[in-house]
Amino acid sequence: MSEPAVRPRADSPIRRVGSVPDRTTTRLPRAGVVWDALREAIADRGPLDIVDVGGGTGGFAVPLAELGHRVTVVDPSPDALASLERRAGESGVRVRGVQGDAAGLLDVVAPESADLVLCHGVLEHVDDPAPAALSLVAALRSGGSLSVLAANRNAIVLARAIAGRFAEARHALADPAGRWGPADPLPRRFTEEQLAALLTGAGLTVRAVHGVRTFTDLVPGAVTDSEPAAAQELLALEAATSDRADFRALATQLHLLADKV
Ligand SMILES: C[S@@+](CC[C@H](N)C(=O)[O-])C[C@H]1O[C@@H](n2cnc3c(N)ncnc32)[C@H](O)[C@@H]1O
Repeated sequence: MSEPAVRPRADSPIRRVGSVPDRTTTRLPRAGVVWDALREAIADRGPLDIVDVGGGTGGFAVPLAELGHRVTVVDPSPDALASLERRAGESGVRVRGVQGDAAGLLDVVAPESADLVLCHGVLEHVDDPAPAALSLVAALRSGGSLSVLAANRNAIVLARAIAGRFAEARHALADPAGRWGPADPLPRRFTEEQLAALLTGAGLTVRAVHGVRTFTDLVPGAVTDSEPAAAQELLALEAATSDRADFRALATQLHLLADKV
């Protein structure tokens, strides 16, 4: 398996943002690895213009707004946008919610207006990932970064096999869209190579790749629900293995951070 080009950029403007507090990790343990990557990406910098495409109910957008960033959520779902507004109101922050989709991002967001674009759990659903990725990149300023989180094809092969659904596991392994069968609710899953190629093909340089929920979805919930110390240990294990290619190969999701030069 070839590694994508990972080039840390010390001069990236995203590196100098106000830091993400630890409570974002503890509040969203399933997304701890993503917050760790975002924390590093936006550390020590003043208010940024952030666009969360498919931001849904604001799981990332609201904590980022709480840090003082100017956050816009673009999502096709009016219900999600209504929940986002409620959530932002309860937190006492303003998040701009706009109805729209990834491919048509420039209909609702000005070109080259964002320092950071988030696209988490969305590329699995879009009609065609390539033009969607181009739209995300077009919304970024030069020097800005894109944060992509997407379902890992390998993980569903493992999950179906563990469930005893061996034929479905083999189907997901062979299917170009990484689906386990016609009843699979997800339209598409990705390999790391596919995601890296998608972002480099859109003109970005991949800076970091992390595996998200490598172990969390394999551990019975009762283990961590009943023991807070075990939950913390699990988080630490996820963090310790997230950037290792051997472990992230089986993570439920892949997180890529990529820069626009
Ligand atoms: C799995 S949720 C992820 C929500 C959020 N990004 C997160 O990580 O918690 C997927 C979101 O993508 C939105 N969505 C679906 N199709 C989309 C599209 N073509 N463009 C943008 N967002 C889309 C859905 O409305 C939903 O809010």
